[in-house]
Amino acid sequence: MLITRKAEFSASHICRNPRLSEAENRALFGAAANPHGHGHNYVLEVTVEGTPDPVTGMVLDLKALKDTLNREVVEIYDHRFLNREVAPFDHVIPTPENIAIDIWNRLQPHLSGPRGRLHGVRIYETPDLYVDYFGDAA
Ligand code: NI
Repeated sequence: MLITRKAEFSASHICRNPRLSEAENRALFGAAANPHGHGHNYVLEVTVEGTPDPVTGMVLDLKALKDTLNREVVEIYDHRFLNREVAPFDHVIPTPENIAIDIWNRLQPHLSGPRGRLHGVRIYETPDLYVDYFGDAA
């Protein structure tokens, strides 16, 4: 069974690769390469996999899951300039793909028990665009 909790945060970023020229960055990333950065209201959906406990009827403690998302992701990402304030984005381009990977890496150690194993991370950068990441296997 899969169970999903949603969280939201706002952050700004620049999408550019310092190894590429200005023209190449503009061609690849468009306005997102602007060095002043720009913001998004990100929506995160974290899906956990497990079997309901026969005693509690729950896959995992949903309050604990909410606390984990807040502590490990929202408090770190919210209202931050990702390239400057959130490792590893000083050297990894904060595309939604890389943000999904970073969030997975932050959550996975906390969601690996026999009940409530991390299944997937979905991150919406805009209402029209999202990335799914299911760990190394995907
Ligand atoms: Ni952007």
